[in-house]
Amino acid sequence: MLKQVTKQLALQGVRTFSVGQQNNYKVTVCGAAGGIGQPLSLLLKQNPLVTDLALYDIVHTPGVAADLSHIDTKSKTAGFIGADQLGDSLKGSDVVVIPAGVPRKPGMTRDDLFNVNAGIIKDISNSIAKNCPKALVAIITNPVNTCVPIAAEILKKAGVYDPKRLFGVSTLDVVRARAFIGHALGVDPQTVQIPVIGGHSGVTILPVLSQSQPLFKGNQDTIEKLTVRIQEAGTEVVKAKAGAGSATLSMAYAGARFAGSLLKGLNGEKDVIECSYVQSTVTEATFFSTPLVLGKNGVQENLGLPKLNDYEKKLLEAAIPELKKNIQKGIDFANA
Ligand code: NAI
Repeated sequence: MLKQVTKQLALQGVRTFSVGQQNNYKVTVCGAAGGIGQPLSLLLKQNPLVTDLALYDIVHTPGVAADLSHIDTKSKTAGFIGADQLGDSLKGSDVVVIPAGVPRKPGMTRDDLFNVNAGIIKDISNSIAKNCPKALVAIITNPVNTCVPIAAEILKKAGVYDPKRLFGVSTLDVVRARAFIGHALGVDPQTVQIPVIGGHSGVTILPVLSQSQPLFKGNQDTIEKLTVRIQEAGTEVVKAKAGAGSATLSMAYAGARFAGSLLKGLNGEKDVIECSYVQSTVTEATFFSTPLVLGKNGVQENLGLPKLNDYEKKLLEAAIPELKKNIQKGIDFANA
């Protein structure tokens, strides 16, 4: 009987969920009024798994929330402004996405953002520990390689750290690799599969082109040029924006995709796989991005290192010392 009803609903285009699926989640965006935060919130407003969208920033969120609240999707949107309202924005949150902080200007590295952004991540992490310690937390703020270890240390100090629930968002590197490969091969980028592992800055970004599907064929020179283009793609945008910031729209797309995958995992969907920068034992670097299966508690399984060719093994060797340095900087900051 139940099967028949389910089939009937499916025929009518109504999705049904098995017991245990919740289908209504609260998502908080911290930094929601920014260049990434606004389009990211717009995309999340369209996600059918979101019922509560909390927009936190130190400026402009009442306006952004009022604007988004007129969109005819089911989620309720609320704006929270200033440090006093941070806790309320986070209470009961299932997923927290953080694009709060300053972006790069031409000539800056991601590490140059550390002085301002480290403190922002520390404050938000402290409030997460108090208000939604079980939330899945996705950090977009740069330098991602360092901000994620900072959040981990703060959550540890508060006694609520669960390595399966803390993520550095490196999805934009995957999105870029798919776009570049798709256009180079003349195929739909949406059909391209490619692991991008390591971290999220310069040499720590390691696109594993030998494992792309369809295979990116080319001589070594072409492969090296594409590798460097993916590693430096953020700087390409920073230069093109000429002082007006870094990638915002493509990052909002990537952030919405990653948050959407976290929600699918929470909701019990199977085979949800994303690369993300998490606590890891895959290499000597204690945080490292590899493909992960996402589930009800965040990381369900770390799929480990993809097969690497000799060139990629050299890239990995170059990435590890830089990553270790970035990670240590975060740990030192959080414990200072
Ligand atoms: P933006 O300056 O346009 O927006 C940042 C927002 O953060 C602003 O609305 C600001 O008011 C807010 N903010 C500042 N301090 C805050 C605090 N204490 N609490 C809450 N909100 C606060 O910058 P944009 O372009 O949106 O970039 C945000 C961050 O994302 C930067 O650190 C940037 O480097 C990073 N980013 C990361 C990428 C990735 O792939 N993971 C890609 C592109 C940018």
